[in-house]
Amino acid sequence: MELNVEAIRRDFPILTQKVFGKPLVYLDNAATTQKPLCVIRKIEEVYSTINANIHRGVHYLSRLATESHENARETVQRYINAASSNEIVFTSGATESINLVSYSFCRSQCQPGDEIIITTMEHHANIVPWQIQRDISGVEIKVVPLRENGEIRLEDIEELISSKTRLIAVTHVSNVLGVVNPIAEIIRLGHTYNIPTLVDAAQSVQHIPIDVQALDCDFLAFSSHKMYGPTGVGVLYGKEQWLEKMPPYRAGGEMIAHVTFEKTTFNELPFKFEAGTPDYVGSAALAEAVRYIEKLGLDKIRSYEENLLRYAADRLMQIEGMQIIGTSQQKSSVISFLVGGIHPYDMGLLLDGMGIAVRTGHHCAQPLMDALGIEGTLRASFAFYNTEEEVDALVEGVGKAAKMF
Ligand SMILES: Cc1ncc(COP(=O)(O)O)c(C=O)c1O
Repeated sequence: MELNVEAIRRDFPILTQKVFGKPLVYLDNAATTQKPLCVIRKIEEVYSTINANIHRGVHYLSRLATESHENARETVQRYINAASSNEIVFTSGATESINLVSYSFCRSQCQPGDEIIITTMEHHANIVPWQIQRDISGVEIKVVPLRENGEIRLEDIEELISSKTRLIAVTHVSNVLGVVNPIAEIIRLGHTYNIPTLVDAAQSVQHIPIDVQALDCDFLAFSSHKMYGPTGVGVLYGKEQWLEKMPPYRAGGEMIAHVTFEKTTFNELPFKFEAGTPDYVGSAALAEAVRYIEKLGLDKIRSYEENLLRYAADRLMQIEGMQIIGTSQQKSSVISFLVGGIHPYDMGLLLDGMGIAVRTGHHCAQPLMDALGIEGTLRASFAFYNTEEEVDALVEGVGKAAKMF
């Protein structure tokens, strides 16, 4: 059975909107996805029925809210098949998850001169935290170059590995090129040198089934809002053996075992990394989003989105002057493109006038833009609620806009 996209679309109230009198064509899903009614209702339900601060309370509501937050942790654990819910740390998003690893890992596992390997195609969220650690901890950053079709190669990573390499931090799917990196092979390569890998799964966890145990993944970071959940919540998965060795990233309530003015001992995992009141409403709504994805089936989602991506690439290529950025065969749900010499921003504005939402610019990947020798791109990114009719509207819109220049 295939996805019933017509029925799915009815779960997303925002998709029925008109923009400038035209039906909304939302193709900015890599920036954030829309939310199904069950997620929206979950937020209302938590505030209307069980709202109370969690963990610290003995009273009824606090127990229910705590249970909801911890159940959400188990739902996320199941989704990525983590061995233990202690390995699931709630953060505010992929950005915070990566900042947590960069701070705590470098502080505890790195000496000045040690090296972190990243790639040319990383989002700023997986570049800048390492640069800050370069200043604080004295680590150095090694960058894997890009091949012509937008792929990275294992041999290029291996070339950079030295006795000083402490971590490989790599995106699973590029938010610009849509390239799916061979993370299983990268993790395996790292482990042959006893080097752990951090996978930035912000653009993959909603499209590709991920089993952290099968991958033997050390760290995995992602955001709720890119996977049909609410904003403000994210996840860091970390192998217990690593998280145990790493110091807290933020300090305050909840992450402590005992505090005196002389000395503080820290709470056990995962609470050691969750200082302050966590977003227990967000975690409940994220769990609802996970259940929604599971109900549709990630395999079916993947196959539907792959067909849509292929359809979009074929149709876009028929436009004169079309240049698709990133021609790897291994792609997921993202197409970046340029048309003739038209500035992406100008094209994006014209498309907006037609009700078509795409993203324009450097997509928080300026070093990648530099490597490609361009300033920015237009980016259409797809979700399972998008249709071939919407791709047709995009193609028609781009064709029309191109004629205006
Ligand atoms: C590959 C990648 N990593 C990290 C992020 C950061 O995600 P967030 O802003 O939700 O923390 C993004 C956001 O676009 C992304 O595409």
